[in-house]
Amino acid sequence: MVKKTIEQVDVGEKIVLMRVDFNVPLEGSTITDDRRICMALPTIRSVLDRGGSLILMSHLGRPKSGSDNSTLSLRPVADRLAELVPAEVIFAADCVSYDTQERVRSLLPGQILVLENLRFNDGEKENSAEFASELAKLGDIYCNDAFGSCHNSDASMVGVPLAMGRKPRVAGLLVEKEIQFLSDAIADPQRPFVAILGGKKVSDKIQVIRNLLNVCDKVLIGGAMAYTFALAKRGEVGKSFVEPDKVELAAELIEEGGTKLVLPADTHCGESCTPDCRKFVAIAGEIPDEFEGLDIGPTTASLYTDIIEGARTVVWNGPMGVFEVPPFDEGTRAVAQAIADSSATSIVGGGDSAAAIQRLGFSDQVTHVSTGGGASLAMLEGRSFAAVNALDDA
Ligand code: 3PG
Repeated sequence: MVKKTIEQVDVGEKIVLMRVDFNVPLEGSTITDDRRICMALPTIRSVLDRGGSLILMSHLGRPKSGSDNSTLSLRPVADRLAELVPAEVIFAADCVSYDTQERVRSLLPGQILVLENLRFNDGEKENSAEFASELAKLGDIYCNDAFGSCHNSDASMVGVPLAMGRKPRVAGLLVEKEIQFLSDAIADPQRPFVAILGGKKVSDKIQVIRNLLNVCDKVLIGGAMAYTFALAKRGEVGKSFVEPDKVELAAELIEEGGTKLVLPADTHCGESCTPDCRKFVAIAGEIPDEFEGLDIGPTTASLYTDIIEGARTVVWNGPMGVFEVPPFDEGTRAVAQAIADSSATSIVGGGDSAAAIQRLGFSDQVTHVSTGGGASLAMLEGRSFAAVNALDDA
């Protein structure tokens, strides 16, 4: 999986066509978390500092064809980027029109051209060869620094590198770092290797749990998926979220996992998911009918803390409870604190757990917080990526 990186190619006077994942959360036109933009800066600087110019392309959200998708324009992202880099940032109102090609022709070394949302073109999600070839014509070098999208086979991720012909196609520094952290952790972990998996659905994590049971010493389960496991153990789960059609599968995973798979011993439950609701801590599998499980309980939190304390590699993906609604954030907070206090190599998967660790202020105390949600899960499943396979070998 070792791929040629941007630092291994001469970019002087060249146009680098770089796929980034600037799919950032927006409230109106305000970016509420610019981490994905900041994490692409090392690759951007590497090109600009060596006399290259950049075309940046990304998707934003999931535009629906035939609807007004103007709120999904990348213009606010281009504006934010302009505040972060000492370079001229130009915005192109589309991706491959004659106007955009003209802008590319007049691009000077040190300038950045940001293309409008790739998904405004149907060809992007369809991995259309025609759209890919139009995009490929824009640059001299293709660079993939979009880790968060590496599990996708969109045109800009797979079709474009394939359409570059003999031109270089390389990995950016973020993609290199993310893949290295996650694949090293799985392939050659320092032991004990502990994975903590949370989130709502067992169905989202089946392959991850299976793969991690093969490589980890312990897999700790939290989040709403714990109630499907509790049901598989014939427990009472009250009004908790469960996936009835996955109960059999959960039973299989319990059987396969043996003592490696650790389920919560207690549950913080409430009558509704509000801070002021009636709440108490129940023994796992003994949740009364009118209550729902909303977090792991304190006994589980301290058990998980002890296990994390003894680990030398920790991977965490998915919150332990409804961390947006206190006090049901306590389990997630305890796990985040244990990871922050531990001297283990720690990797936090993207999405909700990355948001949780950031909100709790522990980001600087973990070894790596991934920018990928689906992509980091796909890596934990052991999947390889067509988008990365399409890049040149080192
Ligand atoms: C993400 O946020 O996980 C990536 O940007 C991919 O977005 P998608 O799930 O819409 O393909």
